[in-house]
Amino acid sequence: MSPNEETLLNTLIEVIFTPIFWVVEHPGGTLFLLLVFIFLAMALRDFLQSKNSIKRNFPLMAMGRHALSSVGPPLRQYLISNDREERPVPRYVRKWIEASALNEDATVPFGTQLDLDSPGTILMAHSSYPKLKHEEPGRTHVGEHNPHCEHPYDAALFNTSAMSFGSLGKRAILSLNRGAKEGGYYHNTGEGGISPYHREPGGDLVWQLGTAKFGARNADGSFDEETFAKKAALAQVRMIEIKLSQGAKPGKGGILPKEKITPEIAKIRNVEQGRDVISPPRHSEWEDAEGLLRFVERVQKLSRKPVGIKYCLGDPRFLDQIFQAIVDVGVGPDYIAVDGAEGGTGAAPLAHTNILGYPMLDAVMMTENKLLEYGLRERIKIAASGKVFTGGALAIALAAGADWACSARGFMLSIGCIQALHCNTNFCPSGIATHSSWLQRGLVPRVQGPRASNYQHAVLKEFAMVLASCGYDSADQLSRADILKVVDFHKIQRMDELVPYPDRVASP
Ligand SMILES: Cc1cc2nc3c(=O)[nH]c(=O)nc-3n(C[C@H](O)[C@H](O)[C@H](O)COP(=O)(O)O)c2cc1C
Repeated sequence: MSPNEETLLNTLIEVIFTPIFWVVEHPGGTLFLLLVFIFLAMALRDFLQSKNSIKRNFPLMAMGRHALSSVGPPLRQYLISNDREERPVPRYVRKWIEASALNEDATVPFGTQLDLDSPGTILMAHSSYPKLKHEEPGRTHVGEHNPHCEHPYDAALFNTSAMSFGSLGKRAILSLNRGAKEGGYYHNTGEGGISPYHREPGGDLVWQLGTAKFGARNADGSFDEETFAKKAALAQVRMIEIKLSQGAKPGKGGILPKEKITPEIAKIRNVEQGRDVISPPRHSEWEDAEGLLRFVERVQKLSRKPVGIKYCLGDPRFLDQIFQAIVDVGVGPDYIAVDGAEGGTGAAPLAHTNILGYPMLDAVMMTENKLLEYGLRERIKIAASGKVFTGGALAIALAAGADWACSARGFMLSIGCIQALHCNTNFCPSGIATHSSWLQRGLVPRVQGPRASNYQHAVLKEFAMVLASCGYDSADQLSRADILKVVDFHKIQRMDELVPYPDRVASP
């Protein structure tokens, strides 16, 4: 080797091995340089892409903004918001649910944090002669006026509202049903059908039939009577609910994308794999009120159990149409589940959550007035849902006209939901609205199930205390006259003056 070649070889060795020695000697510095490199590469990618102008203009800053906005909702609640802020469920309500679920002291110190004189506030009028002790709240008998009903049901005054296996993961369903079993109340399946996770704990079920008839459909999406009758005969299924609409997205159907149709989902919902499945915005079996009632009757005959319908009230003429048809045809549902526009969902378009439908209290009062007008109040019960999270809210809903109430998000919170607002992303940190197995690992039905039933019990206990303070022994003594509404600053009116009971009440 010539001296020149030797010098060249030494230089080469130095160029190759110096950085390697440097890396070995400075691991911290290497990691730092690596991170800088990755960061710059991501910034360059943002700088060159053309889909997002903020990222294109401010690549580094936009990355931080995106990260902060995605962790914002869960962090805001701990660091910034006060107890009355936070939507949709303020922190003081979440704290009450959490303490109740854990059987901890849920009393509050020092007085209310609410501005009770703000217009829109709803209060209740207590009696000058409260009851000396409060009674256990009773149950509501459903199905007694339905000639096809062989299995009437005594519903608790507070139950778990519809949420499908699909929008919630299997451990959440197992927890909720276990709570229902332990607490002696019902658990609505939601429109996704009856899954093994609804069955396993053995809690009472209300089987909901949505527009896609999941769990009881033919290949073309039409109603499969035979399959329906077989599943409806399960002793665990106590009532059937035909869903017309739901408060968070009234008038909206949906798509179950083929990617989400696992063999398990296909079996539970009676759908084929490999094809998107459409949930239409309404049922295809009828075109008018009479058609709806004929379908209700068909389901009553097939199930021989109480059958309800669920709606969020939109065009109020619907009430006259349906109640007139019930009087004319002589058949009708055993109960109506009135869902308020303030209701929740896994995912919905913004407009549907914000501008469509009547809120629960107004819809309950309008429904009850029409039932009274048509002489149907004795025959058809009313269930209310829409932010009925506490015993006080239950008292207001029942005074407005409901016979019982249900909650979806209240029960989610009782089993550990932190309102991270990720139900639509499959990244629910509490493992409830997700199918990710590592996130669901955090949810232990053996632990969370009893929390759901503790919560339900606490709601009923608080309700019983409010009832006693109003001077009553039983829920059916409540009426609109017990509700007060702040209509303007320093102006409070009784609800029966604002929304009077009808003058003309038909006899049953
Ligand atoms: C995650 C989730 C899934 C839901 N799925 C259904 C459903 O399948 N069918 C239905 O009728 N309502 C569904 N709802 C609406 C609830 O049953 C309930 O009517 C509404 O949230 C109001 O109750 P809340 O204010 O106590 O949550 C769902 C709500 C949530 C939060």
